[in-house]
Amino acid sequence: MTTVTWDPVAAWARIVDGREDWVGPAYEPMLSGRPIARTEGVLGGFWSIAGFEQLCQAADDPGTFSNVVPLFSTRRPPLESDPPEHTQYRKLLNPHFSARALASVESRIRRYAQEMLHPLVMRGSADFAAELSHPLPARVLCTLLGIDDRHWRTIKDFARAVDRVGNTPPGDPSRSQAAGPMLEFLRGLVAAPVSGVGMIEGLCGARVDDRPLAPDQVLSLLLLVVSAGHNTTTSALGNLVFRLAQDPGLQQRLREDPGRVPDAIEECLRIDAPQQAMRRRVTTPTSVAGQVIGQGELVWLCFGAANVDPSHWDAPGTFDLDRADRRHLAFGRGIHRCVGAPLARLELRIVIEELLASTTGFSLAGPVRRPDWPRMGVSSLPVVFER
Ligand code: HEM
Repeated sequence: MTTVTWDPVAAWARIVDGREDWVGPAYEPMLSGRPIARTEGVLGGFWSIAGFEQLCQAADDPGTFSNVVPLFSTRRPPLESDPPEHTQYRKLLNPHFSARALASVESRIRRYAQEMLHPLVMRGSADFAAELSHPLPARVLCTLLGIDDRHWRTIKDFARAVDRVGNTPPGDPSRSQAAGPMLEFLRGLVAAPVSGVGMIEGLCGARVDDRPLAPDQVLSLLLLVVSAGHNTTTSALGNLVFRLAQDPGLQQRLREDPGRVPDAIEECLRIDAPQQAMRRRVTTPTSVAGQVIGQGELVWLCFGAANVDPSHWDAPGTFDLDRADRRHLAFGRGIHRCVGAPLARLELRIVIEELLASTTGFSLAGPVRRPDWPRMGVSSLPVVFER
């Protein structure tokens, strides 16, 4: 069987500069034939799994597809870990995203959305990315961590740096440079947590096997939360506002029935998955769709491609508010499935509800730029508002 080759940089070029408005054509070599492809010249070469069924099998098998693939020199469990270590760290994060924990931050998120949206709507235009979808999730992360809101820029700058190093080879010095300032910042916060509030205080007081977490364990957990929670949510917000700005009919449906906003969020996460792919390392020789993958090889699970796989989805390129199957893979699958999904959904719902309620319409006011693969988001989003 011939190996399919795929170049993510070239495939994404048309999305980055706006010539292509959805991801399907970028994955065409894999989605029209064999659902796995080889890439050379990026990250030392890797395999990409794009088929829905094949991706689910790999994600459900962490023994073969290990997630010990650190981005920085500081490993970030539970993401960059396998069981049993994964289980321990994941348990530490779960309570911070429970329904109870989220109920305690909901009114704060709504206040942020209202106070940030109001001046933009009154002005009549905005770069929605720079003025709302980038800063708001950073402010929410400050609330979650239990730190002063003024630190949001530190989180946002770090998130930018994370995306810049995402495609550099392992061991590239730019990776530790990207994490350095954030680690220093977090170290200061862990040394003096604000009593009684937030995740920093919670983790500093947490115990595993009846022993308190070491400061470095707390640090790596926090590093993960600030890196995983920002770019993804920012992108999801920008993607949905981008879609709505081009679709007055969809805006009208949601204004008439705001109860459908969650459906719009899920369909947008499916078609424009903010985190298009994540890394794995193969621990033992395996075969995917007849392709043998050797021990130690790097594999990317392409959630964004599986979400538009025509062998699984009807009309995958259509944004269908009434789509019956909402089991997309934008939040991943298996043991690493996103722990922050309930918070991301809450932020998205609140911002879209507030945007629809405070305007009679909004539309694009200029060209949009998108970041590089594996990110699907918007770097700038000029919008005009009517009220
Ligand atoms: C729309 C927004 C979001 C998207 C699309 C998203 C996507 C994902 C994906 C695809 C994974 C699985 C990674 C893998 O399998 O290797 C993941 C894991 C994770 N996400 Fe999210 N995420 C979002 C928001 C958030 C937020 C708001 C937080 C925290 C504040 C967060 C924290 C995490 C963490 C800690 C993990 C690792 C879980 C584990 O390994 O057990 N994410 N996310």
